[in-house]
Amino acid sequence: MTQITLPRPDDWHLHLRDGAMLEAVLPESARHFARAIIMPNLVPPVVTGAQAAAYRERILAGLPAGMRFTPLMTLYLTEETDPADVAAAAAAGIVTAVKLYPAGATTNSASGVRDFDKVRGVLEKMAEIGLPLCVHGEVTDPAVDIFDREAVFIERVLDPVRRATPGLRVVMEHITTKDGVDYVRSQGEDLGATITTHHLIINRNHILVGGIKPHYYCLPVAKRESHRLALVEAATSGEARFFLGTDSAPHADPAKESACGCAGCFTATNTMPLLAHVFEAEGRLANLEAFASRNGPAFYRLPVNSETLTLEKTDTATHWPAKIFGGAGPVTVFDPGFPVFWHVTP
Ligand code: NCD
Ligand code: ZN
Repeated sequence: MTQITLPRPDDWHLHLRDGAMLEAVLPESARHFARAIIMPNLVPPVVTGAQAAAYRERILAGLPAGMRFTPLMTLYLTEETDPADVAAAAAAGIVTAVKLYPAGATTNSASGVRDFDKVRGVLEKMAEIGLPLCVHGEVTDPAVDIFDREAVFIERVLDPVRRATPGLRVVMEHITTKDGVDYVRSQGEDLGATITTHHLIINRNHILVGGIKPHYYCLPVAKRESHRLALVEAATSGEARFFLGTDSAPHADPAKESACGCAGCFTATNTMPLLAHVFEAEGRLANLEAFASRNGPAFYRLPVNSETLTLEKTDTATHWPAKIFGGAGPVTVFDPGFPVFWHVTP
């Protein structure tokens, strides 16, 4: 097959930032994706319904003329979050999900949750109204090795919280382990998981062998190859509870190429060609539609997009810009390290 047409895909986990960075990266997502779940980890974070509404306006105002894109907003869960504000924002159609960051787990997560008893009321309200909780699934206990933090989170935090809050709909964001895949498969329909583009392509050797590669550093950090293979198997399976969340997370190059580099891979520009490559290599190109276009809307109880996107394979390798430029400085586009022959048709 040299061409494939899908319902227009959505990105169920995206960092757009604000200001000059927002302006630079927004067209990269809007070019291929119809909708995205917008992460709330701004500085300061998007905590209230009013802040989410204002952020949505800034995103829509930044959209270049002629581009269509629907930001689906999230609230950043803190120990002070008011269940009534969450319920009102959901009822008004301002927010599509709430994001849980364990305090200190990743970029701009200092206001996240330390004591889960303090958010019990919000989680119970969310279970009642069916509002999904997007979870950054890593423990922050310094005694736990960084490569084990997802597996330990499932056992110590996620499973107990889900048991304590029956009916809570949860998305495990950017799973990076076979443990994550297995846990999703062992549970019922109220649990889903997003998988990023880069975790389908790199393992931890790509970050660390032959010199440190800051543009491959993200959180959760890529794990060993056996975990990457489990993610590829799950993503390409077509199973309903695995869907695309790129976690495209732009940082200007100086912030990545640093003695203390920021976490995040920027994949908005080339995700769709990369996914076509990965799915084709598995002999499962036909399941790209489920992963990128159908499973996410089904979990979020939204319609599948009626517009389409066509990918085409050619004999010459596809080129995309190595960096995108904007007022916030250069941002390096994720480099898969191999030639890709797929591109999105204009
Ligand atoms: C994200 C960011 O930069 O905001 N970074 C990342 O490595 N994924 C935060 C996150 O999603 O963990
Ligand atoms: Zn993220």
